[in-house]
Amino acid sequence: MNKDIITLHDHERAAQAALGEAAWAYFSGGAADEITLRRNSHAWQGWGLSPRVLQDLRGGHTRCTLLGREVPMPLLVAPMAYQRWAHHHGETGMALAAAAQGCGMVVSHQTSTPLQDVAASFLQDPGHGPLWFQMYWQADRARTQALLSDAEDAGYQAITLTVDAPVHGVRDRERRHGMPLPEGVRAVHWPAQAPATGSGLCAGLADAAPRWDDVQWLISQTRLPVLLKGITHAKDAERALQVGAAGVIVSNHGGRVLDTVSATAELLPSVADAVRRQKHDALVLVDGGIRRGTDLFKALALGADAALIGRPTLYGLAHAGARGAAHVLRLLRDEFEATLALTGCASVNDIEIDHLRPLKAL
Ligand SMILES: Cc1cc2nc3c(=O)[nH]c(=O)nc-3n(C[C@H](O)[C@H](O)[C@H](O)COP(=O)(O)O)c2cc1C
Repeated sequence: MNKDIITLHDHERAAQAALGEAAWAYFSGGAADEITLRRNSHAWQGWGLSPRVLQDLRGGHTRCTLLGREVPMPLLVAPMAYQRWAHHHGETGMALAAAAQGCGMVVSHQTSTPLQDVAASFLQDPGHGPLWFQMYWQADRARTQALLSDAEDAGYQAITLTVDAPVHGVRDRERRHGMPLPEGVRAVHWPAQAPATGSGLCAGLADAAPRWDDVQWLISQTRLPVLLKGITHAKDAERALQVGAAGVIVSNHGGRVLDTVSATAELLPSVADAVRRQKHDALVLVDGGIRRGTDLFKALALGADAALIGRPTLYGLAHAGARGAAHVLRLLRDEFEATLALTGCASVNDIEIDHLRPLKAL
């Protein structure tokens, strides 16, 4: 890795230089004025750390338990579509990177590599974290059942159903550039064509959009735990648990769907409270704008069991393939370990809300 690349921001700059304009617009862009996109990362900076000193840090580690399994790190790569457009290593390269760094991976329904191949790459590393499969609701229930059983057979350990994008977000940058996918890159498990971007955004989609009874049906069709991704309201979190979800992912899709939704750092505490009140062992994850180890620490302090990271891993992949994505995760892991030690936490179990103070604007 180029020795000047020492932060996730450096990876972002290198990716922009490596990608064509349309790919950069697709991977980095957000909805409309990108207010939520920017606010996601700024909101983590709105919290200050309040470290404790002289704590006993012997035997310190980053391990945690997710869905009954001990995993090396409370961090997973978020589901992201068309990774072979970012780099020919694609989802397979991302899987090697995540597994090598002890991180989990959530593979997108719109993966450009078969889910079986991604799983094989990921699971061959004995140090791997959790492997989950993300799905969008499809009106064709037989296809959904087939995909669920393919994911089960391939070794995926959970399903995340994304519920925040029943219709496409209005992403201006992407609409200007279009989506000129390279020859041979397509969403291999997606029925017909990839979802259109551009005009006629809602055409026909709302009719096929899932409702709570559809979610309940999907949960009944798999032996795997199901998490709902894209929950931002405490009442929806409660409803998710009532229909049998194993947990929720507080997410606004990285600011890509509905602009001016609050930042996930702002939404997380109320959702986490609602979940814990109802079922103390249900999972709460969060994503959006995590760019530093301190951001990950704050996510756990605000009530998350783990976090997902999106764009930075794609940026690493885009300019340096699997090695680049691994470097991004390594940087984040090192920063998180340093944050744990410097706040006086020997493990994630020591992280408390008391380690945070809201910062006043200067
Ligand atoms: C290029 C791109 C593609 C994405 N594709 C999907 C997807 O297929 N399914 C999904 O649930 N979320 C998708 N997301 C949203 C991410 O899973 C995640 O919520 C978001 O990127 C987190 O924010 P961050 O990029 O600021 O870390 C995508 C995000 C990006 C940037």
